[in-house]
Amino acid sequence: MLKNGFGSLLAVLALQLFFPVIGSSPLFAANRISVPPPPMGWSSWNSFSNTVDSNVIMQQANALVSSGMQKAGYHYINLDEGWWLGDRDKEGNILVDPKQWPVLQPGERAGDMSNIVRYIHSLGLKAGIYTDAGEAGCSFYSPDLGPRRAHTGSENHYDQDFLQFAKWGFDYVKVDWCGGSRENLDPAVQYAAIAHAIERAKRLTGHSLFYSICNWGKNSPWTWAPGTGGVTADIWRTSGDIVGPIVANSIRANGKASFQKVLSNFDQGIHPQAQHTGFYNDPDMMVIGMPGLSETQNRVHMSLWAISGAPLIEGADLTKLSKSATAILTNSEVLAVDQDSLGLQGILVAQPNPGIQVWSKPLARPGEHAVLLLNRTAASTPISVTWKEIGLKPSSSATVRDLWVRKNVGQFTSSYTATVSAGDAAMLLVHGTDAEGIRYAAGSPSNDLGGGAITKPCGPCSGGSRVALGGRRTLTFKIAPVQGDAYIQISYINSDPSILTAQLQVNGQIPTSIAFPPTGNSGGTIAIAANLKPAGNNNRLTFSSSASAGPEIISISLLGGSR
Ligand code: GLA
Repeated sequence: MLKNGFGSLLAVLALQLFFPVIGSSPLFAANRISVPPPPMGWSSWNSFSNTVDSNVIMQQANALVSSGMQKAGYHYINLDEGWWLGDRDKEGNILVDPKQWPVLQPGERAGDMSNIVRYIHSLGLKAGIYTDAGEAGCSFYSPDLGPRRAHTGSENHYDQDFLQFAKWGFDYVKVDWCGGSRENLDPAVQYAAIAHAIERAKRLTGHSLFYSICNWGKNSPWTWAPGTGGVTADIWRTSGDIVGPIVANSIRANGKASFQKVLSNFDQGIHPQAQHTGFYNDPDMMVIGMPGLSETQNRVHMSLWAISGAPLIEGADLTKLSKSATAILTNSEVLAVDQDSLGLQGILVAQPNPGIQVWSKPLARPGEHAVLLLNRTAASTPISVTWKEIGLKPSSSATVRDLWVRKNVGQFTSSYTATVSAGDAAMLLVHGTDAEGIRYAAGSPSNDLGGGAITKPCGPCSGGSRVALGGRRTLTFKIAPVQGDAYIQISYINSDPSILTAQLQVNGQIPTSIAFPPTGNSGGTIAIAANLKPAGNNNRLTFSSSASAGPEIISISLLGGSR
């Protein structure tokens, strides 16, 4: 996890003396790629388990609309496990219970999943479906789940099933890992194969499925899931289920949520090195408004998911949501933090005492940073955030807005302090002047080039030069130790019509896959976080791509430890 705060101005001066800084630029400046935000919606699992059927889905979809959640941005209605019978016909098609999925309007056939999709679409919503990457789904291994014990996973039927989902009209697919795990399959391999099947289904039907990978963080999906198989956006689960173990007696309807699990799923979901440009860590479906959490805990839960830019898939029974839970789920200013178009994950910038934490996430508008002052202890305490920690000019002035109270608190120089009650959090929007980022050119002679990489003139991009990746070419930037961790803005060109991927390896850590969306000829920028080291030798940031074509890197700019 990224832990330390951002560095000092002295560090910047030192860097500028010793390293080939070719100029500074405001961070996250123009040419930013606009990214698909984290998905928002509802899923059947937490509250309905295997009892999901047409009635449940219609009621929940109606409630999503009447509660105001649709208006706030929630638009997926996702069917989780339990929607199918657990067998296939002779042609290998998944069999569906016609009573569970009856005719909803004239002209339909009972047992056709497109009936419910049409209903969901008629409300202006999108529809999600579920399967397993292995031979059998989770229920097969959990008899407690009741009668609908699905033997059906999608293994050996990837093309057939994902084409079927697209033909039925679904817009989203969650792919679980119970079968895959039992069979000891390699998740990186299986989920890439599924991504290819999803892309093939899209080419055949013109219909895309948003890809939700659910293997609970096994084999570190954050290192291989972003852009796997060429998908243009996806999410990957980073931990086990928030709602505790399945209760005996078949159905875990209204399972009891626990705040400890909310916190622990949040902690396990922090992999900011992987979150970028439409690719998101998924700490699981939300349990806001479910039995087990207080109003304060619901609010903290929402704040945690928003600061981490997580998918917002609610799991409570929407027909029973209290007014306060609905208000928490639909606070537009908090949702805007989650949905911010930079698509970054917040990082822990300070932890002055155990359990007292300052989280921060830079937002797309220059000078804007979301901040969460989180008190995980049992006593009320003042918590401070400094502008330096979050990447603003250290002694500048900034406005502070409390996003839950929806009020500007005032104008503050250098820092802000709030008293936060035990187990509570304050969520702030701090708007000030960003410190300048330091720009490192790809064409600088102090970089290492490998695998035949060469520097070319930049042409249409602003000055300098570019280095093309692909074909095992490598480009290594050497960056002096910085005090803590940093967000990196990467300036690049991808003139291909589709996403190109490259790996970024920082200091010998496991490389992370980064997807570079098309930019045309003029180039663009994306941002991610990097876990840099505070002392010792230079940080080595190596970009590589073994595909035949890779993006052309123009420069990287550091926010954080470098300023
Ligand atoms: C796993 C997933 C859950 C849910 C169930 C269904 O536990 O993590 O989100 O989909 O399977 O059985």
